[in-house]
Amino acid sequence: MANLLFVCHCPSENTRRLRDAALTGIAQLAPDNLTVRALSPLEASAEDIEWCDGILIGTTENLGYMAGLIKDFFERIYYPCLESSQGLPVALYIRAGQDGRGTQTSIGRITTGLRWKTVSEPLILRGEWDDAFDEQVAELAMTLAAGLDTGIY
Ligand SMILES: Cc1cc2nc3c(=O)[nH]c(=O)nc-3n(C[C@H](O)[C@H](O)[C@H](O)COP(=O)(O)O)c2cc1C
Repeated sequence: MANLLFVCHCPSENTRRLRDAALTGIAQLAPDNLTVRALSPLEASAEDIEWCDGILIGTTENLGYMAGLIKDFFERIYYPCLESSQGLPVALYIRAGQDGRGTQTSIGRITTGLRWKTVSEPLILRGEWDDAFDEQVAELAMTLAAGLDTGIY
């Protein structure tokens, strides 16, 4: 059995739609050996990192950086998990009105510091809302879920 943690900041209708697309994608895959725990960044703790075998993170970009609650999450788990979570597979998507690169860079620095393993290029969903975003997030989530389910990570 493998455990997937999904930490998602979704302050808007569109970002909640992305969260649901990720969960639907994973459910469609019907992974036999996977347990999913979806939490807001405020709810997620170091204990959840210890529990999981892979993590999917969804955030907005605000003021050129990751959402404040995602930063708070990293601040709370960084040192408690620094040794124990090395090699943790991670996938990331960013909903950004205009850019997204500040968030990609800043989260990349943190996950590099934690020595987590990026399983897929971060997905930036930029600009006006596009219905294709749902499918892109679902695919990212399914990639991580399938890898955990089959034990390839
Ligand atoms: C206070 C604030 C700051 C923001 N700063 C940025 C930013 O620096 N770069 C960017 O691409 N989008 C920025 N945005 C846009 C958000 O990323 C976007 O509203 C969010 O992802 C929700 O997307 P939605 O409108 O599709 O629900 C900002 C939004 C708010 C409310």
